[in-house]
Amino acid sequence: MTIRTKLTLMTSGLVCAVVLAVAAAVTAAQRSAIEDQSRRRLQGLTDGVARLAQESIVNRDRLMLFSYLMHLQKEHAEFAFAAVSSPEHTSTIGADRPGLIYWTTDVAVRRPIKYTISTISDTHDSLSVSTAGVSLSVAGSAQVTVEEGRRPDALALKLGFDAAVLEAEIAKALDPLTRRTAAIAGAFMFLGWLGALSLSKLLTTPLSALATAVSAVKSGDLDVVVAAGGSDELGLLAKHFNSMTAHLKVLTQFREDLLHTLTHELNTPLGGLKGYLELWNEGKIPAEGPQRDEVLQTMTAAVLRMENSLGNALGLFRTGSRTGVRAPKRSVWLHDLLSEACSLFAPEAAAKKISFVLPPEDQRAYVHADPELLRQIVANLVSNAVKYTPEQGHIRLSLEGGENDVRLRVADDGCGIAAEDLPHLFTKFYRAGPDADRRRVKGTGLGLNIAMKSALALGGTITVASEPGRGSTFTVTLPKFAPQPEAA
Ligand SMILES: Nc1ncnc2c1ncn2[C@@H]1O[C@H](COP(=O)(O)OP(=O)(O)OP(=O)(O)O)[C@@H](O)[C@H]1O
Ligand SMILES: [Mg+2]
Repeated sequence: MTIRTKLTLMTSGLVCAVVLAVAAAVTAAQRSAIEDQSRRRLQGLTDGVARLAQESIVNRDRLMLFSYLMHLQKEHAEFAFAAVSSPEHTSTIGADRPGLIYWTTDVAVRRPIKYTISTISDTHDSLSVSTAGVSLSVAGSAQVTVEEGRRPDALALKLGFDAAVLEAEIAKALDPLTRRTAAIAGAFMFLGWLGALSLSKLLTTPLSALATAVSAVKSGDLDVVVAAGGSDELGLLAKHFNSMTAHLKVLTQFREDLLHTLTHELNTPLGGLKGYLELWNEGKIPAEGPQRDEVLQTMTAAVLRMENSLGNALGLFRTGSRTGVRAPKRSVWLHDLLSEACSLFAPEAAAKKISFVLPPEDQRAYVHADPELLRQIVANLVSNAVKYTPEQGHIRLSLEGGENDVRLRVADDGCGIAAEDLPHLFTKFYRAGPDADRRRVKGTGLGLNIAMKSALALGGTITVASEPGRGSTFTVTLPKFAPQPEAA
């Protein structure tokens, strides 16, 4: 069950309980008011009967009482039974049966007592008689006789009311009120449910968005961003989540770049090494002499380059630094760098009968920079020139030293690059030319991207001029003194 469902159920359950409790209290109060009203009505009715009973005693008219009782029985359904008892006999109206609620009373009327006072002596001083007929005081000598009047008349009344009819009347009076209360309670419960639904939606929507975003991150989508509007805990969580994915994205991108660069940078010298090993295998390299020494030197330089690339990449992985453990800057003679690159790709160039034209020995331009970055630039440009120049082609390398910067050119008379491809050449994984060419010449589209990054890190840049079918010229412009790399 989702949190939203649980929250909706809990909140609406709570609202329902409160509304039902209030509705029950209101219904109980209404019932008690109606019962009170019914009691008062019965009280009025019985009071009337008692009054009439008294009158009937006074007027010695029982018929009046009976006709009144019969009238009441006709008018009031709940009035089921009446018994009027005098000392002599009992008269009843209706049937005495189970299920009746009884009301009883005795009604009596005292008639004045008649006193007869006969004076036998005239010598009385005072005489007082109480009408209650019990006290009599006589002063002086007198003889008094008291004649008692008639005894008081009395009637015992017993009225029976049908409990079921009374209950039905109460229920009937209560029914519309109960209906109204139920309707109001229902409306409140519905509103409560709506409120619970929107409350749970309000609380769980950011959670659901976060859950979706987390699952997107799990499947590798680091571009996911969650809305972080509020300043509450959920808003804070969303903000932390966004900054976490942004950080992860940078880290992942960095590691990806590193891996690509490393693979590429290991592959470039490896290609040269492979070429030399093949020549060695074919016996095309003499066992002794200066040519063998030169080949060994080139191979050793290639292996050292690979070792440096690996060491640098491992350092970057370990420290997490974006600049890594770079080799210390030093003055690098660009001519030496160009010769080293040409030597590395010499077997490949020789296989295609491509000739290298190096700048004159006396062109001693130098830069003060990280030699590894410089090697990356030159190796990628020379590698491309060899790759994209057909057999019998020429690759011209030139240097131009200014006061503050140097220009290094790698020009070939190869296939050239279409104008529409030029703006994208330095984009990662971009490969120019028709599909067939791309399939024929192996590559990943990373070399120029790496070369440009290295040039930028050294404070320089690379530009390209090309004409399809006529060749391309890549120009690297570098300051003589490379700036400090930016901190991570
Ligand atoms: N000298 C050149 N002559 C013609 N086209 C070139 C030359 N240098 C680069 N290109 C074009 O630019 C594209 C990008 O070059 P880049 O070096 O980045 O990748 P790549 O050589 O295809 O692969 P790799 O990652 O192995 O270097 C190449 O695919 C190629 O079409
Ligand atoms: Mg390349």
